[in-house]
Amino acid sequence: MALKTPKEKHDHETLKFPEGFLWGSATSAHQVEGNNINSDWWEWEQKRPPRFRSGDACDQYNKYEEDFDLVKQLNHNSHRLSIEWSRIEPKEGEFNQEAIDHYKKVLESLKDKNLTVMLTLWHFTLPKWVSDKGGWENGKTVKYFEGFVKKIVPEIEEYVDFWVTLNEPGVYIYETYIKREWPNSKKSFLGQTKTFLNLASAHKKVYKFLHSWPYNHGSSNKPVGIANNMLSFEPFHRHSIKEQFSVVLNDTFSNHLFYIFTKGTHDFLGINYYFHVRFSNPEFMTTGIDPNQSHDVSDLGWEIYPEGLFEVLTDMADGIPIYITECGIASTNDDRRNRFLISYLQEVARAIKVGVKIKGFFYWSLIDNFEWHRGFDPRFGLIEVDYQTQKRTIRPSALVYTDIIQNNGIPHSLLRFIGHTVGAEEVLEKRQKELLK
Ligand code: BGC
Repeated sequence: MALKTPKEKHDHETLKFPEGFLWGSATSAHQVEGNNINSDWWEWEQKRPPRFRSGDACDQYNKYEEDFDLVKQLNHNSHRLSIEWSRIEPKEGEFNQEAIDHYKKVLESLKDKNLTVMLTLWHFTLPKWVSDKGGWENGKTVKYFEGFVKKIVPEIEEYVDFWVTLNEPGVYIYETYIKREWPNSKKSFLGQTKTFLNLASAHKKVYKFLHSWPYNHGSSNKPVGIANNMLSFEPFHRHSIKEQFSVVLNDTFSNHLFYIFTKGTHDFLGINYYFHVRFSNPEFMTTGIDPNQSHDVSDLGWEIYPEGLFEVLTDMADGIPIYITECGIASTNDDRRNRFLISYLQEVARAIKVGVKIKGFFYWSLIDNFEWHRGFDPRFGLIEVDYQTQKRTIRPSALVYTDIIQNNGIPHSLLRFIGHTVGAEEVLEKRQKELLK
């Protein structure tokens, strides 16, 4: 049963979104399902301390029905999720029918609830056998991925409304070759380049396939895209040529390069937005927040900077529909999540107002989950998970989101919430202490 929020009377100032807007949240298989034992991540995690192992995760492999009931109860009209290649093809060329049937049931359950389904085909994890052969560095992985896609698509196409071929190719490369915090990490410019080119080629091939497959159900024109991590860059010293150059360079590499290499194969732009980077020193690849400012941050120290979302959206706008495929905050302070939601959505509304064709928003994430190499501490969920008991508890911020969804816009009463920056006091206090040292 859907939750009832009181009808906003005399509230003529709701910041409305376009009709048919998709409201939902996102997850990925490895982060929520648990026990993906045939993946490269699983193998790598076993060498790490227990709290950095995915283990049962949220046990969504078994609890999907309960989770989707919550999706419905929260009044979302869509949902983004991924399927796990390593479950479907645990050994080269050997497909696991049980896993395929499982995903059919999962997707059918979403459709039964009348939800629009956005499905990601690859969200960071690889079957172990693929990674043993070199992963995305190996040109043959493009073929392996195509093989997997060709097998699974005919089985599930009737339940899918949007295809996301790849999630954040840039982040994968950054974490594997630059930060080197993920499985199979190494320093290799050649490996990094090959991975980039193979991911681009995989996207293009799968895009073509998804548009040529003779679908039994619906049209063959279900939109296909990627979910790309987009950062908002800014020079700290407006007139510093060095910093401006850093902005152009980083913007090109992080935000545009993949699209340049895969031009003409995107029916929509999927934008994941988390980061604002201000170049406060002359290094080219600085990240994080500028120590001289008092912006609020998430539990991961990521700056809360809603304006950056507006900048990214207006920068990317070129007439193709845009879906915000991920945007969220890791916070145990739910009031902070409330303000996050309201202020970021306000920027989305502002971008729509200036003509950007934004068609949907997927909050990251539906439930707390396994945040990759950072383990379970970061809490991104609209729904809290108790990992001891697997009990789900709806957070109050989830209801603020529901309120927005039910109004198809941000009621004026909610806009009043964001009058000041939460946490500014703490940051100021910290700065004062530093100054007194
Ligand atoms: C990824 C998610 C991740 C989220 C928060 C995105 O880069 O797609 O898998 O959990 O960011 O870090």
